[in-house]
Amino acid sequence: MTDTDDDGDLEARLVEQESFEPAEEFVSQANVSDEAIYEEFEENWPHSWTRAADLLDWEREYSEVLDDSNEPFYEWFPDGTLNASYNCVDRHVENGDKNRVAIKWEGEHGETRTYTYQDLYREVNEFAAALRDLGVEEDDVVTLYMPMVPELPIAMLACARIGAPHSVVFAGFSADALATRMNSADSRYLVTCDGYYRRGDALDHLQKANEGLAGVDHGVDATVVADRLGDDGFGHDLKGNQHAWDDLMDDHQGDRVDPVERNAEDMLFLMYTSGTTGQPKGVKHTTGGYLAYTAWTSHAVLDLEPEDTYWCSADIGWITGHSYIVYGPLALGTTTVMYEGTPDFPERDRLWEIIEKYAVDVFYTAPTAIRAFMKWGSQFPERHDLSSLRLLGTVGEPINPRAWKWYYQHIGNEECPIVDTWWQTETGGMMVTTLPGVCTMKPGSAGPPLPGIDARVVDTSGDEVDAGRAGYLTVEKPWPGMLRTLYNNDERFIEEYWAEYSDPDADEWVYFPEDGAKIDEDGYITILGRVDDVINVSGHRLGTMEIESAIVGVEGVAEAAVVGGEHEVKGEAVYAYAILEDGYDGDDEMRDRIVAGVEDAIGPIARPQQVIFTPELPKTRSGKIMRRLLEEIANEEELGDTTTLRNPEIVEEIQNKVE
Ligand code: WTA
Repeated sequence: MTDTDDDGDLEARLVEQESFEPAEEFVSQANVSDEAIYEEFEENWPHSWTRAADLLDWEREYSEVLDDSNEPFYEWFPDGTLNASYNCVDRHVENGDKNRVAIKWEGEHGETRTYTYQDLYREVNEFAAALRDLGVEEDDVVTLYMPMVPELPIAMLACARIGAPHSVVFAGFSADALATRMNSADSRYLVTCDGYYRRGDALDHLQKANEGLAGVDHGVDATVVADRLGDDGFGHDLKGNQHAWDDLMDDHQGDRVDPVERNAEDMLFLMYTSGTTGQPKGVKHTTGGYLAYTAWTSHAVLDLEPEDTYWCSADIGWITGHSYIVYGPLALGTTTVMYEGTPDFPERDRLWEIIEKYAVDVFYTAPTAIRAFMKWGSQFPERHDLSSLRLLGTVGEPINPRAWKWYYQHIGNEECPIVDTWWQTETGGMMVTTLPGVCTMKPGSAGPPLPGIDARVVDTSGDEVDAGRAGYLTVEKPWPGMLRTLYNNDERFIEEYWAEYSDPDADEWVYFPEDGAKIDEDGYITILGRVDDVINVSGHRLGTMEIESAIVGVEGVAEAAVVGGEHEVKGEAVYAYAILEDGYDGDDEMRDRIVAGVEDAIGPIARPQQVIFTPELPKTRSGKIMRRLLEEIANEEELGDTTTLRNPEIVEEIQNKVE
């Protein structure tokens, strides 16, 4: 990310400042304010992780913290038992907080729904009873294909209650993407809804869900359809095994379902994410370790207290929403805000209006959003009283120092610390970031690894690099929130994450997240971005291979290569290079068909910013596509070495076509 973007109205005095201290007012109230915690974790590792587990109520206490007898298949708190829905709902009701607000939901049109912990308890129980009645049994995977409506967290918690792992599929994904995920998880149950609103328009979601269902190879036993649109709905008739959410809830009014006692290592959910192949990977998270880890990081990094009103503006369809809208905050008994719509509807001050309306204490968002806010200008936040804010956070991609400082000045009023949190779907929760009540902040650098996290920056042979040099990020000790495997694919799990730097003969297991990084003399880590074929568009992780296979699926396309090019707001944008079969023209119609092909296979988020038609792709003598060159062309950078190319003449031709 370059820092030459128009900085809008950033104050000159901040431009040069390289480090920031948290305000005393923040530190004095912070959940964690003693730096001794780093040492404490190191000295008592892995026992120190009981600190996280102690934030939960266990049905049966664990006697062991970590079982590492079968590396890298680690088990955390392995003989403990608990239930995630009990921890996120029941215990707060039992502890006298039943009338505290659990979820504040705001629809795009400004309508609101408020769920106290008691309300949530009732709805989760009733829906759990409904799921059971439909035939869902413990360990059946239930797919949730839903936008940002309260029924989504309710369904997640209902699944957790009966021990049925959920697999949430982002509502913006296409019908094909839904079918692929249901097939891969052998999921026979779907919860979805009629539609939702985007910038004032009602979208027909059920149509997409039905198309997806048609692509599920095995039978689907039941589908539940929540009603979001009411009279704006599209009037689809429900089929034989499709049930209206409201009818089921009526049938089960007042029902109670005992939370199922789950082993700590039992699966809580699956989350599909993109990797280097065309097939998305089903990341498996477990009940004890994941919940302990998200609760702990919500406590230590987001500084959440039960009294707080907290808002993470991510979508629950991604891991950020799972960990930091639903599980972490609710485990701590906090009020979590959910917003259905976009930040610029009806106007560009919508987020600031919501922060003012609910007096939000802690706000967590993505750098891509901050860059858009910066572009729009500070007049929008200035219309609102944001003084309730105490802490700000970012996640999903690197944040450039200018955007960091703008956020600090215009949203945080130079009083709120900012946590720039590096983590992944696979890590379950935050891994590298400052503790806001302890650490100095350095804009652009995520910070040191969290206590107990052994993250390092190494060279290709696995040796730590010197301060200031670029290398690869690794994690050299396990942690409770880590993925346990890829669903039904232990082999790929080892290949993708452990093969690069581990030495199994020496019993040394090193996790490789596929990110480049550098580290400074204070141990602060700056993330440089993915080093595999994954691109990050507006904080959304997309596999270039998935997009390429969508493009070659379009009639007339012979070959395709997709790379990420820099984009001022999105971070990266999709650049697609396509070679056509004889008899097809690279005209507007072809371009539209390619774009439509990508939208059908994945969704609008993967839409190419540019499609470049070319007679050939730059290839090495051994026939490998030189992606690095394609990236440099997309970024209009000076080109690196082209001497190893088989067809160097093609480079200039492609360059001339990029707009
Ligand atoms: C990137 C999202 C820099 C990184 C939680 C990682 C970041 C990928 C940051 C995971 C950050 C996430 N600074 N880069 N603070 N946070 N990333 O699985 O490349 O959707 O590997 O998880 O996002 O994306 P995922």
